[in-house]
Amino acid sequence: MDNNQPIGIFDSGIGGTSIWKEIHNLLPNEKTIYLADSKNAPYGQKSKREIIGLSIKNTDLLLEMGCKLIVVACNTATTNAIRELREKYEVPFIGIEPALKPAVANSKTQIIGILATQGTLNSELFNKTTEMFRNTKIVEQVGHGLVQLIENGNMNSPEMTRLLHSYLIPMIEADIDYLVLGCSHYPYLIPQIKNILPQHIQIIDSGRAVAKQTQRILKEQVGLSSTPSNEAVFYTNSNPKVLRGILENRYEVIEKDF
Ligand code: DGL
Repeated sequence: MDNNQPIGIFDSGIGGTSIWKEIHNLLPNEKTIYLADSKNAPYGQKSKREIIGLSIKNTDLLLEMGCKLIVVACNTATTNAIRELREKYEVPFIGIEPALKPAVANSKTQIIGILATQGTLNSELFNKTTEMFRNTKIVEQVGHGLVQLIENGNMNSPEMTRLLHSYLIPMIEADIDYLVLGCSHYPYLIPQIKNILPQHIQIIDSGRAVAKQTQRILKEQVGLSSTPSNEAVFYTNSNPKVLRGILENRYEVIEKDF
């Protein structure tokens, strides 16, 4: 694989751009191609089989486009399909999982909250991880409806505020001191989440860790780009306006059927 080929990134929609931003900041010399599978969002309520099928479809397209490494910028796809992707393809995959470890390591109350999709919280991979933290109480909450509101461009709506209140207040009452964001769409909600949480509750997401892991695997296994280019191309199969908006109209967004 040529080290000047692009990094491929996919998500069920626009949320994984939160991960793309971290990768683009840490590795500004790398070309990136991002696929927003918004037509099929949300993945969170789909079966494992469906999520594997969609992840294969996205990977095939990124490989056709010549990507040298694939970032699965979706917790739901990672926790349900990354093992199958790694078995099927030779290209390296970087996944994203809820950052429970740093939250558990730093929590004083040993009660932490996690907000994620149903697909992630029900997955075998996530449940295996929580078994490692038996001495910590993990308050799980499915973020029903949040991804749809973000995908529809209603991130700052009264409905969003209402849903966030209904999910976060019980966690505050349970005395969490860390909130783990287990979905790549949710970092866009941090300003609103901060308005609801008391100041002592820390918010953790996995974006930076994924970018660092991408850098490490590129160095060790694939090679960093030797002809620096910060080109970034975004493909979406639905609603390009919302994706352009989240990227502040600074990057090329192409509508494509996939
Ligand atoms: N952004 C995704 C995640 O990190 C998936 C959300 C969804 O499609 O349900 O889980």
